[in-house]
Amino acid sequence: MRKTASRITVIRKAKFAAAHFLRLSELTDEENFQRFGPSSNAFAHGHNYEVDVHVSGPVVPETGMVVNLKDLKVILNEEVVAPLDFKNLNLQVPFFQDRLTTLENLAQYLWDRLKPRLDSLSLDLVGLKIAESDDLYVEYFGGAEQLP
Ligand code: NI
Repeated sequence: MRKTASRITVIRKAKFAAAHFLRLSELTDEENFQRFGPSSNAFAHGHNYEVDVHVSGPVVPETGMVVNLKDLKVILNEEVVAPLDFKNLNLQVPFFQDRLTTLENLAQYLWDRLKPRLDSLSLDLVGLKIAESDDLYVEYFGGAEQLP
């Protein structure tokens, strides 16, 4: 009989504090305010962001683990999240020089950095969540659609 291993999802959280604003340079102050509200203030405001990363795989019988949690912590906290901590996302993170610092774009940013690193360890990134407060967050599962 073939052996089977349970497939289990491990969730690890990380937090970072960052400043940002939502503005389009082609719009006036008033137009930016109409579109983005107080978030358009170019002097920025801050959030304590929380990231949840979901990594799935078989439980390795020898270790009893899906993923070495030490490895996951290094990748998530040190490699991916730490460069955002205490930064102004608009001004100090090159990815956002031509993108709005929305939760959606932050989710994409995190996915693009986590996915290849986890792939290299044969780990399956199944989803991530990024929250800017208790009542506002986005989830991303890696899907893509062709835009018109
Ligand atoms: Ni904000």
